[in-house]
Order: sequence, then C-alpha cells, then structure tokens
Amino acid sequence: MASRDTWLILGASSALARAFARRAAREGARLLLAGRDTADLADGAADLRTRFAADVDIVAFDAVAPQTHAAVAARLASAERPNVLLAFAAMPMQAEMESKPALAAVTLDANLTGAATILLRLLPVLEAKRGARVVIVGSVAGDRGRPRNYVYGASKAGLHALASGYRGRLHRAGVSVSLVKAGPFDSAMTFTRTGLRGVATAEAVADDCWRAAHRRATVVYSPATWRWIMMAVKAVPEPLFKRLDV
Ligand SMILES: NC(=O)c1ccc[n+]([C@@H]2O[C@H](COP(=O)([O-])OP(=O)(O)OC[C@H]3O[C@@H](n4cnc5c(N)ncnc54)[C@H](OP(=O)(O)O)[C@@H]3O)[C@@H](O)[C@H]2O)c1
Repeated sequence: MASRDTWLILGASSALARAFARRAAREGARLLLAGRDTADLADGAADLRTRFAADVDIVAFDAVAPQTHAAVAARLASAERPNVLLAFAAMPMQAEMESKPALAAVTLDANLTGAATILLRLLPVLEAKRGARVVIVGSVAGDRGRPRNYVYGASKAGLHALASGYRGRLHRAGVSVSLVKAGPFDSAMTFTRTGLRGVATAEAVADDCWRAAHRRATVVYSPATWRWIMMAVKAVPEPLFKRLDV
C-alpha cells in the first residue's frame, strides 16, 4: 500500500487497534487515532512516531456521543486516501448485565448504535474517495447467541448485518468493507475471562485485519480455524444447543 494511505482507527486504545496501528505504521501509512482517552492516544501516537517515524494524529471519539463524530469525519475527509478500522466495543460480563440490565444498553449503544452512527457519518467521505478500505471487527460471538455472552453476541450479530449492508452500499463507489469475525484473543476484554480456549494474540488478529483489507475480502474469521468451528456450532440443533453450558 502506498505511503499516502491514511488509516482512521476507531477505538485506537484497544489491544487489537494498537497492534494494527503498529503494522500500518511499519508499512508507511498515516494514522488517525480516534478514541475516548485522548491522553492515552497521545502516548500511543508518540510511541508510533518514535518507533516508526510515523505520521500520526489523534482525534476525540466516543461511539455513544454522536456530537464527536462530525469532527472525526471532517478529519478523515482531509486525507488523500482514507481507510477505516472499526475496533471499539464494550463487553461487560453477561452475569453483570443480568444483575444490572442498564449495562445491556451500554453494550448495544456502543457496539451497534455507535457503530451505525459513525459509519453513516463516514459514508459520504468514503463515497467521495474511491478505493477506500473499511475493516469492521466483528466476533464469532455474533454467529450464535450463547448463554454466557448473548447481549454482546447480539450487538455483534447486528454489527455483522450492518457490515453486510454497508458493503453493498459502498460497492459501486469502489470501497471494500471487510468484516473480520475474531475468536478470543489476548486483550483487556479477555483478561479476567476464564475457560477460554485457543486464545490468539492481538497481533495475529491485527495481521488478519490488514490482509483482509488488502485482499478486499468480504468476511474472514480470525484465526481462520474459527470458520470451521462456527460452522459446527451453527449446525447444532436449537433443542440440543439450549442444553449446552456454553
Ligand atoms: N478480545 C477478544 O477476545 C475479542 C474477540 C472477538 C472480537 N473482539 C473485538 O475486537 C475489537 C477490539 O477488542 P479488544 O479486545 O482489542 O478491546 P479492548 O482492548 O478491551 O478495548 C476495547 C476498546 O473499545 C473502546 N470503547 C469502548 N466503548 C467505547 C465507546 N463508547 N466509544 C469509543 N471507544 C469505546 C475502549 O476505549 P477506552 O480505552 O476509552 O475504554 C477500548 O479502546 C472489539 O470490536 C471487540 O469486540 C475481541
């Protein structure tokens, strides 16, 4: 990819986003880090400049505060060749949401409403500049609702449908929209979770995001073995699935 590409990273303080930013900086891309904690973003930007002599900027972004979205879109509009990684998400524990149902709204608001709001805000920017790449980070949790994770799973299922429609909407403008359905990987999100098997690294998932963007892939699983695992999981009949402790 040419060095004039700019990657807007939404949720830039996530483990995956940090790994993706390092990869993109190594490849010579410009970066626009977007997130809620601007002090943390400034530290991340300084690190990328030191390590890779990267051209990095930051912008305040809160998925659930649409008033922050116009400035993000305006900053991206000034890029010659804009690209987007959508990597933010909230994932409270399911048990916590069952005792505090308002947390379910926080999850759906950030992961689905927030994603829809910012993607729609970015639509005219992307449509105006042919050839952009968008990567949306979904989850295997969105492929089938499980008792242990069904609200987060529902938010990701909605995000997957959003990605599909967004891809079709932008297809004629020459913009690719890649959905990366990630399995569990090492991050703050999985830090306290027990019983997770086959946890990948954030770097491996970031590399899959990078490759998906450059192949202009539509839907990929990361790591790839999750495609087959989820095929099997989805094939389990509901009367049996409801009995499983998953
Ligand atoms: N880790 C996994 O096992 C796993 C598996 C499948 C999919 N994923 C997906 O991969 C992506 C990255 O996850 P991760 O595990 O790397 O994340 P992480 O390190 O736990 O970070 C989550 C990020 O989301 C941001 N965020 C939460 N609510 C936000 C809001 N309202 N507005 C803006 N940013 C918000 C957080 O910002 P603050 O720093 O401001 O809190 C943080 O940067 C997410 O989409 C997640 O759903 C993760």
